[in-house]
Amino acid sequence: MAIVSDDNKNINKPLKRNPVVKPDSIEYDKTFENSIRPKDFDSYIGQSSLKETLKITLEAAKRRNKPLDHLLFYGPPGLGKTTIAGVIAAQMGVDIKITSAPALERPRDIIGILMSLKGGEILFIDEIHRLNKVAEEILYPAMEDFTLDMTTGKSQTAKTLRIPIPKFTLIGATTKAGELSGPLRDRFGMIHRLEFYTVDELAQVVMRTARILEIDITENGAKAIAMRSRGTPRIANRLVKRVSDFALVKYNGIIDETVANESLDILKIDKYGLDTTDRALLNLIIEKYDGGPVGIETIAAALSEDVRTIEDVCEPYLLQAGFLQRTPRGRKVSPEGYRHLGVKQPSCQTSLFDM
Ligand code: ADE
Repeated sequence: MAIVSDDNKNINKPLKRNPVVKPDSIEYDKTFENSIRPKDFDSYIGQSSLKETLKITLEAAKRRNKPLDHLLFYGPPGLGKTTIAGVIAAQMGVDIKITSAPALERPRDIIGILMSLKGGEILFIDEIHRLNKVAEEILYPAMEDFTLDMTTGKSQTAKTLRIPIPKFTLIGATTKAGELSGPLRDRFGMIHRLEFYTVDELAQVVMRTARILEIDITENGAKAIAMRSRGTPRIANRLVKRVSDFALVKYNGIIDETVANESLDILKIDKYGLDTTDRALLNLIIEKYDGGPVGIETIAAALSEDVRTIEDVCEPYLLQAGFLQRTPRGRKVSPEGYRHLGVKQPSCQTSLFDM
């Protein structure tokens, strides 16, 4: 164990308008993530209302000796949707099969996985909004009646075979709940949005991860990392590792507030957690489009980024932090965004017209 304590305990400020580094774009070290994932509700920090509801739901399912209702979790990446699904499986004492919608391209992919499930097991489908129509139609009777409806033959001679499958629980996760079809959304018994974490919660996540990885850190060091983690535990965990490299090579091995802040400055993660891409995005809108509004495709093309990366990874926190605004005519940099970058907002842009 390697925790060094210091005296500042004031880490309870919510991260509300207190911006943002991003949950990873596409690539992320899953082995690292798995090694530090909490396995029970007690070690899962944050999302308290979700945890309380889930504890009741799980207990009721256990007492009835029935599988859990299908659950849908939505919210920005990195907030712990997969992690909470793993906790649920562990608490129910069942196995979990983890897949994602893009991996279920052909009918046989989804049929195969449904047929392989054992009674009570959990099927976790990430990015469920990307499920194609055919896969969705296969899923409906599976979710509702625990059957696979297979059609054999063509037109007039076609027959539907109903094959029973074991009762299972589907946990869907999405960053875009609005893109789920109505019929699919309606088949979930519980739909819950995961919230950004407060600085206090993230500092606890950082301390926990440091303890597991045997990294020396002070409470103020943890808080400094938490403040630049965009409300997102995945980012906080990644930053602990990066900062611990600096602590080892450039400092005395211990992450305190100074080490954390200096290392994060070198990594170009600013005091609100924005990185170079976030600042490039805001600067682009200010410099090339007079602060906006400008369409997302134009922004993505100008930054040589994928539209989905901008929408799923950069935008949620920039919006929540209040640096960016979404209008019917595109994205706009807010007065806070101008202020954060130290750029004076032209007075004509503060007119009511754009509000
Ligand atoms: N690591 C990632 N998310 C976490 C959480 N919610 N609690 C504890 N550790 C985590």
